[in-house]
Amino acid sequence: MSEPVSIAVVGSGYVGLVAAVCFAEIGHNVVCVDNDERKIDLLRNGGIPIHEDFLPELLARHRNGKLKFSTDLKAATHDAQAIFVAVGTPQSASGNADLSYVDAVASEIARSLNNYKVIVEKSTVPVYTNEWVRRTIERNGIQRSEFDVASNPEFLREGTAVIDFLHPDRIVVGADSPRAAELLRAVYYPLTSGEYYTLDTSFPGSKSKENPPPILLTSTKAAELIKHASNAFLAMKISFINAVANICEAADASVQEVALGMGLDKRIGSQFLRAGIGYGGSCFPKDVAAFRYVAEQLGVEFNLLKEVEEINAQQKIRFFQKVRSALWTFRGKRLAVLGLAFKGGTDDVRESPAFDIIKMLLHEGCTIRAYDPAATDRSKEMLPPSKSLEYVDDPYAAASDADALLILSDWSDFGQLDLDKLHYTLRYPIVIDGRNLYDPDEMASKGFTYLSVGRPSVHSTRDGVMQDSAQRKRIV
Ligand code: UDX
Repeated sequence: MSEPVSIAVVGSGYVGLVAAVCFAEIGHNVVCVDNDERKIDLLRNGGIPIHEDFLPELLARHRNGKLKFSTDLKAATHDAQAIFVAVGTPQSASGNADLSYVDAVASEIARSLNNYKVIVEKSTVPVYTNEWVRRTIERNGIQRSEFDVASNPEFLREGTAVIDFLHPDRIVVGADSPRAAELLRAVYYPLTSGEYYTLDTSFPGSKSKENPPPILLTSTKAAELIKHASNAFLAMKISFINAVANICEAADASVQEVALGMGLDKRIGSQFLRAGIGYGGSCFPKDVAAFRYVAEQLGVEFNLLKEVEEINAQQKIRFFQKVRSALWTFRGKRLAVLGLAFKGGTDDVRESPAFDIIKMLLHEGCTIRAYDPAATDRSKEMLPPSKSLEYVDDPYAAASDADALLILSDWSDFGQLDLDKLHYTLRYPIVIDGRNLYDPDEMASKGFTYLSVGRPSVHSTRDGVMQDSAQRKRIV
C-alpha cells in the first residue's frame, strides 16, 4: 500500500484503541500510548480491555508488528509524524466538556517536540479547542512553524467500531494549513483511494475500491462543529421518534409503522428512528450538553437541545411507569432484567438508561435478577450485587420465577428467546420491552402480556383476550 505514516495515538479507550488498531490495519506504524500501566500491560500481553467485534482479530494481526503499546508519551511523540489525541473529555458539572486531559497531553507533547508534527484532535471537543491546544503548545516555547493542530473527528459507534472506522460514510479533516491537510490525506489514502478494500485480508463492509469513502477538508473549527452537530442531530432524531412514540401510544398506532413511513423519505432517512427507553452512552448525553454549553458561550440560544434532553429523561420515567402499570405495586416484586449496557453489542454501561431504570425499581423495593452478555463485570463496579440485585449469566436464570421480564438493551440474542421456555420459566408471563424486539401479535399468541414502546399493549390471545386498551390509556 501507499507510504506508511508514523502515528502516535494518545489514549486507549474505545476511540483511541480502535483508531490505533485500524491505522495499523491500513498500513501505518502506530504506537498507542496510555498512562494506565495496567491497561498497557494487558494490551501488550494480548489482552483486550473492551468488547468490540473484530478487535481481537485485528490486535492479534498487528500487535508487536505495526502496532505497539507504550506508557512513554515522550518517546512516542518523538517518533511520530502525526499525534492523535483520543483522551477522555468528560462532562463537567456545568455541562461543558472537561478538557483538562487534552490540556495536560498538549503540554506534555510540547515538551517533547523535536521536529514538525501534526497534533490531531480525535476526541470530541468543543469549537475553539484547537486554538487552546495551539496556545498551550506555544506557551511551552514551541514556534508555530514546528507544529499544526488539526481536527479529525471520529464517528464510530461502539459495537461496530472497527467496521465504522474502516468503512466510514465520510472522513472529516479540519486543517488550517496545507501541510497538515496533506499529512492527514496521506493517513487516510489507503481508504480514500480504495486500495485497502482490494486486499485479501480487508474486512468487508459498505465501502469498496469502486466506492471509497469521501474525504471532506474543512477549517479546524468547522470540523470540531461537525462532530458536535452530528451527535446532537442524531440524539434529536431519537428524542423526536420517542415523542412520536408517545403520541402513537395515545392514538393506538404503531411507532414502527410511522418510523418506516417517515424513513422512506430520503430527506429523513430510516436510521436512528428506533423508539425506546432513550439514548445513553459516553457520547450523546455528554455531547448534547456540551454543544448546548458551547452555543450559550457563543451567545446563541439553542433551546431545542434542552428539549432533546428533557424528552430523553422523560422516556426512562415513562418506561418505569409502564412497568408499574403492568405490576400495580412494586414492593417485593421480583423482576428479570435483560440488558445493562447502554445498547446491544457493547460492554459499556456509561449513562446506560438501563441503570437509571434499575435504580428506580430498586428504590421502589423490587428485587432484580439481571443478565447482559458482556456488561456484567462493568455493571458490578457501578452497581454492586446486593440482596436486591443479583447478576446471572443466562436470560432464563434471570427470568426464573420472576413477576415480569424487562428488556432494556437491544442485544440481538434478546430478540431470539425461546418464548415457550420463557413462558414457563416466568412466574407471570409479562414482558415489558423497552427496545421493541418482538412482534406484539406473536407475543400475544404465545400467551404473554406484552408492553413495548409506541405500540399497543397486548394480552394473551390463548384465552381469546386481545388488546387491553384500558391499560393502554392508563400508561398514556
Ligand atoms: C454515537 C454515534 O452514533 C457515533 O457516531 C459517535 O462517534 C459516538 O456516539 P454510540 O454512542 O456508540 O455512537 O452509540 P449509538 O449506536 O449511536 O447509540 C447511542 C444511543 O442511542 C444508545 O443508547 C442507543 O440504544 C440509542 N438509540 C440509537 C436509540 O434509542 N434509537 C436509535 O434509533 C438509535
